[in-house]
Amino acid sequence: MHAPAPAEHAPAKINLALHVTGRRADGYHLLESLAVFTESGDNVSVAPAAEDSFSVTGPFAAHLPLNGDNLVMRARDALRALAPHTATPVAISLEKNLPIASGIGGGSSDAAATLRALARHWRIEADLAVLALTLGADVPMCLAAKSLVARGIGEVLEAVTLPPLPLVLVNPGVAVSTPDVFRALERRDNPPLPPLPARMDAEAMANWLRTARNDLEAPARALAPVIGDVLDRLKQAGTPFARMSGSGATCFGLFDSNEAAARAATTLRKDQPDWFIAATTSMR
Ligand code: C5P
Repeated sequence: MHAPAPAEHAPAKINLALHVTGRRADGYHLLESLAVFTESGDNVSVAPAAEDSFSVTGPFAAHLPLNGDNLVMRARDALRALAPHTATPVAISLEKNLPIASGIGGGSSDAAATLRALARHWRIEADLAVLALTLGADVPMCLAAKSLVARGIGEVLEAVTLPPLPLVLVNPGVAVSTPDVFRALERRDNPPLPPLPARMDAEAMANWLRTARNDLEAPARALAPVIGDVLDRLKQAGTPFARMSGSGATCFGLFDSNEAAARAATTLRKDQPDWFIAATTSMR
């Protein structure tokens, strides 16, 4: 017997800034985003089996639709189509720790982790970025899972070096539909991201963030006003900087230290025991 393969981490994706700069003829939006990936996330495990199966555990398991639309199964089927003869049946299990439809890439990151885990399991050596894009605009960046600037519809990636950032993630338990948020945008011709400083220490990062935006925050707040409450509470808990990630509703607060982030998370949890609140750190 082989030892079971280690679980593949599916980190949360945090858009530190997201500018909507245009729109393609097919309706997809052009954007520029600085994104980081955190130690908090889901986990995907694969094991050989007599037939394919997919099971979900973890705090948000009950919220996940398990039909064929699930991105994990779509990732499995898309990768198998590349190598139908070597892609033997697999039992996939997903530990769902991140809230669903929450702007931190959960489903996209699960799909990317499934591609990484199954490519290793099936020994498929292919560039998976093109396949990833067929699963969703955010899946290529989740496949890279490193600090980056994403352009195009999210698939043109440029790696950047950032310091590890202590973060608190807060989601109020309201699912926000990404297409609805994009539809509710007032402007689609916003300026691009300001240029990144050559050296991004914590102070340069904080200064730069104040010159950038998340253009999806205003339309998301119009659809889910509780997002304003989340941002206010993060500020009351002491964050020097709070912003919404992706199309929401998850917001992040940036902290000076992991200890300060952990303290703020404890305070926030006392006030809102039913919200998803996680102190975490971004990975390089
Ligand atoms: O690609 P994905 O299925 O993750 O995107 C979900 C929806 O979000 C798209 O159908 C589209 O309405 C919107 N979207 C967009 N522009 C992007 C990414 C997503 O308009 N760059």
